[in-house]
Parts: sequence; structure tokens; C-alpha cells
Amino acid sequence: MVQGGPPLHGEISAGGAKNAALPILVSSLISPHWCILENIPQVADVATMCRLLGVLGATTKWEGSRLWIRTESLKSSEAPYALVSTMRASILVLGPLVARWGEATVPLPGGCAIGSRPVNLHIDGLRALGADVRIAHGNIHVQATRLRGARITLDPSSVTGTANLMMAAVLAKGTTVIENAAQEPEVSDLAAFLVTRGARILGYGSNQITIDGVDTLDAGEHQYTIMPDRIEAGTYMIAGAATRGDVTVRMACPALLDTLCTPLRDTGAEIYVNQDSIRVRMQRRPSAIDITTGPSPGFPTDLQPQMSAFLSFADGVSHIKETVFENRLSHLPELRRMGANITTKRNEARISGVQKLSGAPVMASDLRGGAALILASLAAEGESTVSRVYHVDRGYEHIERKLSLLGANIRRIKKARNA
Ligand code: UD1
Repeated sequence: MVQGGPPLHGEISAGGAKNAALPILVSSLISPHWCILENIPQVADVATMCRLLGVLGATTKWEGSRLWIRTESLKSSEAPYALVSTMRASILVLGPLVARWGEATVPLPGGCAIGSRPVNLHIDGLRALGADVRIAHGNIHVQATRLRGARITLDPSSVTGTANLMMAAVLAKGTTVIENAAQEPEVSDLAAFLVTRGARILGYGSNQITIDGVDTLDAGEHQYTIMPDRIEAGTYMIAGAATRGDVTVRMACPALLDTLCTPLRDTGAEIYVNQDSIRVRMQRRPSAIDITTGPSPGFPTDLQPQMSAFLSFADGVSHIKETVFENRLSHLPELRRMGANITTKRNEARISGVQKLSGAPVMASDLRGGAALILASLAAEGESTVSRVYHVDRGYEHIERKLSLLGANIRRIKKARNA
């Protein structure tokens, strides 16, 4: 429940990046040695991933936000449907399982609220690496005695596709080249982590990644700090601007947010980037701007819903074009219930800014769309209730606590399921 109006003021810290933590956790399947992971975010998707890895045979120990994880022996090579159906990133276990243990079974994830989201690139890539892949009874079965290096082109570029194939190729015989690889920083974080463990990976961060397969990763404990969550940080930056507040987000590597700073400045926000923080101050009604999402280094699709909520009360007409997912505008009808003037055509939206949104009961249907509705509620006049916030808990650590620290009038009416 949110009482809109108060400008957000103050300082908070970004947590660890969910989308880097998930593949890094999964990569613990590749070697029997302990990984000590720092800055793991306490979000529901991480809890789900730890549960899934536990079913497969991983041992985990928590010490605050530090997690010890290793997989000495395999308990099962099958990911349970109950877990895969709540988190599509479960598909990431395919590559590491088949690379180290020679077999894996993962239920087909199916569609989700933001589109049909096929997994053909994961399957075709594993086949190119020499695996025998069969689809039966709703499951993907993969088998291989030893994967062998190959040249793989991803079309379109896929974040978890790149991560999955990179993890598979680490133990393959020979060299793998992934063309049109995802350049998202979370993929680079996974690659950097694997390199600290003895993997031979070059070119990450560019659109061509080369992996020279090794027989095993290095022995011994490996410690690694997960990169900060640029999407979480970006959400709080937009929230600061949306409430005409003054918010500082502490995080290592503020340059991760360059793609957001430019359009946010165009709306009239003042942005001050320091060595380990970004401050956003907004003193007027935002100006309308146009946004087109794209794979990195384009504008992140994971910040599009929050940005469209912000632009719904901008001065003028904004256009949003979502090019990554086919159905990522489902938060817009909910924003209309708060008074926004928005028309949509396929993946595009025309937002004619209104003076103020008005609080209303609204419903989240996906993670970032839910964050956008909370953000709209903070800026709206009066009270809003956002339901199905379990979507938001998948990727935001204590969102109501962090927003309260900034002076938001927000409280959780029902307890979180997993967070
Ligand atoms: C990841 C992120 C998600 C983010 C998205 C895009 C994680 C856990 N999730 O999702 O937060 O919104 O990147 O930045 O990191 N595609 C295919 N075939 C495939 C795989 C993907 O056609 O086999 C298409 C998708 O439908 C989509 C596009 O590729 O249109 C990009 O999707 P992808 O990068 O794979 O997204 P995810 O990795 O699922």
C-alpha cells in the first residue's frame, strides 16, 4: 500500500545483481570446489535457484549476504517442473549439467507474461557442441559424453543463451566461438568469475566470445563479489526523479547506468555521477522523451516499464518502442487505471503525459512491470494498492524497506512469500 506524494530523499545502496548471481550460482555445478560468493541479493529468484541446485546436489551455506556453494556429487540430473515453472532462468542448469555429468533434463519453460520466450538458441547451441538433445513429454533431455568446441551464432542475441553455452563450453574439448553473443554486463560478470576459477574465456563484453575448453577448473576455494544490480539502482533513480526528489544510489561502477543517465537527463533530471554513487535530483515536471529498448549497449528492456510509468506524467508526448520482448507493455493498462493517457500498437506505446496520476488499486503481472506500478504509486496523488507483489520480490531486495528509507509512505500488507 502506497500513499503517493512525498518526494524521495536520501541515500541507499544497490544490492548484488540478480541476473549475474543466478548464472554464477549455477556455474557451481561445473566444479566440486567451494565458491564463496559475496553480495548475493536476498531475492526470491535466488532462493528458488538455491533450492533447484540443492535438488541437483549442491551444498549451500549462508553467512549474511555471503554464500558458500559447491557440488561434490550429483543427486539428480533433472530439474523439477515446480521450480522451472516459477523461474525461467532454471534453463541455465542445462549447459553445466551436461558439461560435467553428461546428462540433463529440464522441463520446457513455456511462455510467460512478457512473451512466448523460446529456448531454441539454448537447444541449437548445445546440439552444435555435440550434445544429443531430445524433446519429449514437455522435457528437454540432453546427453553427451564430452562436448566439443564449435562456432555458434545466436540470432537474436540472448543473455541466458550466451551464459548457458559459455558454461557448457568451459569444459568442452577444443575452442568454442559464440557470435552475436550478449554484451550485457551480467554475462561479463559470469565470464570474469569463470576465469578466476581457471576457465579460458576471451572477448566477453564484446559480441564475440571465445572459450578454450579445459579438462577441469582449478582446485581450491574461489571468492568472488557479484556486481551491483544496475536494474535495481536504475529503478530507484527513476523513483527519485518521478517524485521530484533527490536520491543517491551507492554502487560500485556507476558507469553501468550510462544508458539510463542520458535519457533521464533529457527529461530534465540533474544527475551527478561520482566514483561509487549516482545522485539524481529532479526539480520540475519531466519533459517527454522517446525510448527504444535494445540488447546491451541499448536501453535495457528491464528499465522500460519503470521509465514508461515516469513518462506518463511528463510534459508532452513520449513514444516507447519495446524491441526485445513481444509483450512487455502489460503494465500500461494498469497505468491507465491511474489516469495515464496511453495508446498502444503492437510493441509501441504513445504516452501523452498527464499532470498527475491518481492512486488506484493495481495489479502486477511481471517483475519489472510491478516495480513500475510501485513507482507510479509513489508519484501519484492519494493511495494505491499494488497486488501480486510476489512478482516484484523475485528481483528486488526488501523494496518497501529501501523506499521507506528514502521517505516513501509504503507498507506491505501481506508478508512476502520467499523474500
Ligand atoms: C535475460 C534477463 C532478463 C532480461 C533479458 C533481456 C536473466 C535471468 N534474465 O532474460 O531480465 O529482460 O535478458 O535483457 O538474466 N530468444 C529466442 N530464443 C532463445 C532465447 C531467446 O528467440 O532461445 C529471444 C527472446 O524471445 C527475446 C530475445 O531473444 O526476444 C532476448 O531474450 P534473452 O536475452 O534470451 O532473455 P533472457 O536471457 O531470458
